[in-house]
Amino acid sequence: GSVAVILPAAGSGSRFGDEENKLFALLRGRSLWMHAAETLIRRQEVGQILLAVAPCDRERFEQQLLELPHSDRFRIVEGGDQRSDSVAAALAEVNRMPAPATDEEAVDGLPPRIEWVAVHDAARPLVRDSDLDAVFAHVGHSRAAILATPVTGTLKRSCPAISGGSLFESETINGITFDRRGMWVAQTPQVFHLDLIRQAYQRHRGRSATDDAELVERMGHPVALVPGAADNLKITYPEDLLVAEALLSERLK
Ligand code: CTP
Ligand code: MG
Repeated sequence: GSVAVILPAAGSGSRFGDEENKLFALLRGRSLWMHAAETLIRRQEVGQILLAVAPCDRERFEQQLLELPHSDRFRIVEGGDQRSDSVAAALAEVNRMPAPATDEEAVDGLPPRIEWVAVHDAARPLVRDSDLDAVFAHVGHSRAAILATPVTGTLKRSCPAISGGSLFESETINGITFDRRGMWVAQTPQVFHLDLIRQAYQRHRGRSATDDAELVERMGHPVALVPGAADNLKITYPEDLLVAEALLSERLK
């Protein structure tokens, strides 16, 4: 396990609309966040998982954590106001305490140091092992690799210059159709060499970003796009949970 996974889980789920964090909504009888957490902690390349949580949710995460395998390999850190603050807080903890080693790995009693960081939205429960295989295999060459899917819809862009600065104004008049070839939707996990992602966060400290790869790109470092399954969806609205429930039942048939 030379990979540390950062699971940002410190949001409030405002678009989901529940009173509590959407990550506690049940998917097949288990909290939403536990699905990806279990898939990831079972991977042999993953040495530890840093779960970034809001202070008000901490106790609940701590308790639910005990139901997962290898719960001793998780660490809970305090998240921040923006997703990027939560990732930055977790990033600061990587290698601060040695990751517990599995028996095969412990050389001279010393656990391996973390070299890679994978950031994965706790709100993406359906990530597949085959996609994890692909993105972990790729990052060795490029130092930065993310899962992404080709855009399927027809893209329009409203032109603020024509529509007087309003993005939503009369798209039929001001809209411009983009060529979608070569356009991708970013997913997670996004995997980086530890030094690279630390440097990116250092350089863009305080600026908020919803996409970690963007910070790496801004340093001029290329990020490889690894085609992933389209069903690695992020639960944002309540209807996404219905879709996830259906997809999971189909998979477990
Ligand atoms: N996240 C986080 N810290 C924040 C905001 C978000 O760790 N300050 C996490 C969320 O918990 C989620 C992931 O980042 O696992 C993706 O964010 P999103 O889907 O936007 O979740 P929320 O911010 O909780 O939802 P919303 O934007 O609707 O409020
Ligand atoms: Mg959000």
